[in-house]
Amino acid sequence: MNIFEIPQGQFTLNRYPVRKDEQLQAWDAADEYLLLHLHEQSLLTDSSKILILNDAFGALSISLAEYAPCSVSDSYVSHQAIIENARVNSISPKQISIQNNFQSVSGIVDLLIIKIPKNLAMLEDELFRIRDNCDENTVILASAMSKHIHSSTLKLFERILGTTTTSLARKKARLVMCKLNKELKPGKSPYPGQYKNDVTDEVYLNHANVFSREKLDLGSRFMLEHIPQSNHYTNILDLACGNGVLGITAAHLNPMAKVLFVDESFMAVESARLNAKNLLEDDSHCDFKVTDCLQGIEDASLDLILNNPPFHQNHVVGDFIAWQMFNEAKEKLKVGGEIMIVGNRHLGYHIKLKKLFGRCEMIASNKKFVILKAVK
Ligand SMILES: C[S@@+](CC[C@H](N)C(=O)[O-])C[C@H]1O[C@@H](n2cnc3c(N)ncnc32)[C@H](O)[C@@H]1O
Repeated sequence: MNIFEIPQGQFTLNRYPVRKDEQLQAWDAADEYLLLHLHEQSLLTDSSKILILNDAFGALSISLAEYAPCSVSDSYVSHQAIIENARVNSISPKQISIQNNFQSVSGIVDLLIIKIPKNLAMLEDELFRIRDNCDENTVILASAMSKHIHSSTLKLFERILGTTTTSLARKKARLVMCKLNKELKPGKSPYPGQYKNDVTDEVYLNHANVFSREKLDLGSRFMLEHIPQSNHYTNILDLACGNGVLGITAAHLNPMAKVLFVDESFMAVESARLNAKNLLEDDSHCDFKVTDCLQGIEDASLDLILNNPPFHQNHVVGDFIAWQMFNEAKEKLKVGGEIMIVGNRHLGYHIKLKKLFGRCEMIASNKKFVILKAVK
């Protein structure tokens, strides 16, 4: 189940977070196809300078670790997965340089490998960011499951990098091959973009990979009407903050409280930081942290947690991350501290909160969403 066999070797690869009875693999046929192609076309040499984008759990970075690649991902969880899978395979994590998209990559790369993300805005932003690391000799190779490669995907490669072709499908995966055209003048990345939050009449900036980047999410909108205000709050957490809309509204209502914004997406946390700076009179009581759920937050330190939980990890839908967040939230709340969440009615979060906290109160509901509160 977790043994990954490709021409580069045999590796043990786990998804992250590690779950009991995991039914899903840490790689897909697109990873296999790409690594097979590199081998068959003899595209790897000892001196190859390799840049990998969007490797979810390390299938690409671990398989190519002997070439000391640079692996760039917006996901902190993916960073942790690569480090953990390197450890499991006795690969020094120092062999892979793990970065986020805001960290620049120096120089021209010989081989650019892109696992095509499901969010096209993210792909567009990434292609702009790495264009300067390519020249006409750079081999640019992208892959995804065929159902995630659309004509709009290929047009992005054509418009930003250069001539683009695709392979035949293999196990329902395809490769995208591209050659840099130096003559192209593609302009600049249009991100961060912005939208007007018409509940608070504020303009929010959103980096390319931020949740609900183009407009205020309906669940978040509903939650905004119910953010509590109290003199007792000294520490508030916007858990899974996205662009920070919940925490910034809480900061307006509770100006004496410290507000911590956390998310596993570097682009989300950076957007929240930008928005707090632009929208709050004083953002010195705000703090920002990229982490997995509530990792690294002090136990029994929080008065209020606001949360619109994620319901998928990449292409996999599920409530396992929400569950992890609620469990950790309980540890991090003070006695008497509150967690308030918004979720689709059908997700049954009240059952989970009740199980953990003993009681769960419904603060509000509409046709689609419920807002729930539990107290430690
Ligand atoms: C439904 S969005 C909510 C965003 C924002 N709070 C709002 O209401 O617009 C869920 C957020 O969870 C984040 N997320 C997913 N997995 C996470 C994890 N393991 N730890 C922290 N944040 C995570 C996503 O990056 C995303 O920003």
